[in-house]
Amino acid sequence: MCGIVGYTGKNSAITPLIEGLRRLEYRGYDSAGIALGTSGKLFIEKRAGKLGNLESSLGDQLPSATSGIGHTRWATHGGPTDNNAHPHVDNEGKLAVIHNGIIENYNQLKAELQAKGHKFHSDTDTESVAHLLSDLRKEFNGDLPAAMREAVKTLRGSFTLLAVHADNPGVIVGVRRNSPLVLGVGDSEYFLASDVAAFIEYTKRAVELGQDEIVVITPTGFEITDLDGNAQTPREYQVTWDAEAAQKGGFSHFMLKEIFEQPKAVADTLIGRLTDNNQIELDELKMSDEEIRSLKKIVVIACGTAYHAGMIAKYAIEKWAQISVEVEIASEYRYRDPIIDAQTLVIAISQSGETMDTLMALRHAKAAGARVLAICNTNSSTIPRESDAVLYTHAGPEIAVASTKAFLTQVVAVYLIGLHLAQVRKELTDSEVADLYNELLALPAKIEAILETVEPLRALTRTFAKSSSVLFLGRNVGFPAALEGALKLKELAYMHAEGFAGGELKHGPIALIEEGTPVIAIVPAGHEHSLDEKMLSNIQEVKARGAQVIVIAEEGAEVTGATHVIRIPVAPALFQPVLATVPLQVFAYEMAIARGNDVDQPRNLAKSVTVE
Ligand code: G6P
Repeated sequence: MCGIVGYTGKNSAITPLIEGLRRLEYRGYDSAGIALGTSGKLFIEKRAGKLGNLESSLGDQLPSATSGIGHTRWATHGGPTDNNAHPHVDNEGKLAVIHNGIIENYNQLKAELQAKGHKFHSDTDTESVAHLLSDLRKEFNGDLPAAMREAVKTLRGSFTLLAVHADNPGVIVGVRRNSPLVLGVGDSEYFLASDVAAFIEYTKRAVELGQDEIVVITPTGFEITDLDGNAQTPREYQVTWDAEAAQKGGFSHFMLKEIFEQPKAVADTLIGRLTDNNQIELDELKMSDEEIRSLKKIVVIACGTAYHAGMIAKYAIEKWAQISVEVEIASEYRYRDPIIDAQTLVIAISQSGETMDTLMALRHAKAAGARVLAICNTNSSTIPRESDAVLYTHAGPEIAVASTKAFLTQVVAVYLIGLHLAQVRKELTDSEVADLYNELLALPAKIEAILETVEPLRALTRTFAKSSSVLFLGRNVGFPAALEGALKLKELAYMHAEGFAGGELKHGPIALIEEGTPVIAIVPAGHEHSLDEKMLSNIQEVKARGAQVIVIAEEGAEVTGATHVIRIPVAPALFQPVLATVPLQVFAYEMAIARGNDVDQPRNLAKSVTVE
């Protein structure tokens, strides 16, 4: 993981570096550091803790520099200490390296370099790269790009690396393998960063960098080559986000802002998908009607919150399109021998498009012959680039580590796919599809209505701040919503929280109920299979054992046994998670505040997990 930024150009480097790091903190925030290029030597400062610690230690004693690199870390090898923070330098203190990812053969490299006399000062895998590059640069007569090309040939693992040398500090050399890196092209200034968010304030011109490409930026231009030094044609694109979208906009936290942006995010993801003759338009799928009709199986791969969106996909797609759907945790999928053929569609869901587990599972599926469709929120990130097709969600930048608006848009995207497949396979009539699409279009206003009435829920949440454990119950699509509610609470409030299928309660989880245990139960919408009544029975069961039950139920639905009832607008049963999740997000948010936790950057987590 970790966030990386590099700047070289006509202006002072410190502001773009610190601002860039601030926007990349979602990638890790347990230490931060910078290296500034000044004539003949590097100025290096690095500190454990959040970026603020680095800023305080920098004070105003900074040398003037027009180039430099910066790093915000999520520790893998070596704890979050000052020494382990990046940049790492060679023994002369002249060559600095920052890294995102894992160098798998660092132990062997370290032993070889130590045998040559190199002294190590950290417990990281990264430091070995600084020493290795230092030796190779000498071998290549001071040519840092050539040294990087050679170094990369000996490295195993996943990495984005940036390196700079004091003798030529305006030159920054970067490379990526299985970790993200993007180039920003400004007006006589150039940027390298893990994500365009780092430099959108300065330029919207971005260039994709491919696997094992070496990029060199100088104040006057850039060059991209492969590992053999052959020039590569730049693949430039325009960034569509603006800087304002990544700011808090008056909200106390990014998460709260993002919760309130959900009506727009859902509306933007749905816009213009139904033609005048009631056809769902999803050209992005790049599948002919014939291919859709011959589909035998769908496999959804995802992690964390995106996995919960995948679970909802199963309920919706199986019901509407009558195609069997398997949902797999990406990190597990990769290490199995999945049964896949050309009639299998794999859907990889990822907000960031960079989650390593999902990326590796995607590659595994492709190698086995599947067609891969990505549902992603980040343009030109690795997962969509490596997929056969991509359906972008339009949530806009999601900065808070705990996912909210991206989740709702992922769910809406899988509904669109389900409706499209059902229509092409003639499992739903055009008018059924149009009715359901119109129900989707009504969701943003319903989310809005929930958000207008969250204050009592916030007050109620605070009364549970001392609870040690919260259980979430759901049935059908309410089950993944319950899992998502529990995940949000774990991530933000650091409380024991678990989501269960209501029917499973009696098979074990009910033993967890004690006097006063808060249980949040989502009553399924409608009466299909009497699921609503079955949930009301579950509520009675936990209530009889002392639970305090907070019930989420649609307007007008009969509720008995609840300590508190939160009403959500009426919607078709399969769409209920889009509404039921919203109070669960608010519950987790408020609980984090009540317990004094950092909402946007919860402990031990990172938003984009680019290690396996
Ligand atoms: C991390 C984040 C989660 C997120 C998961 C998948 O664990 O903390 O919030 O759901 O990664 O991320 P993705 O970007 O692939 O959706």
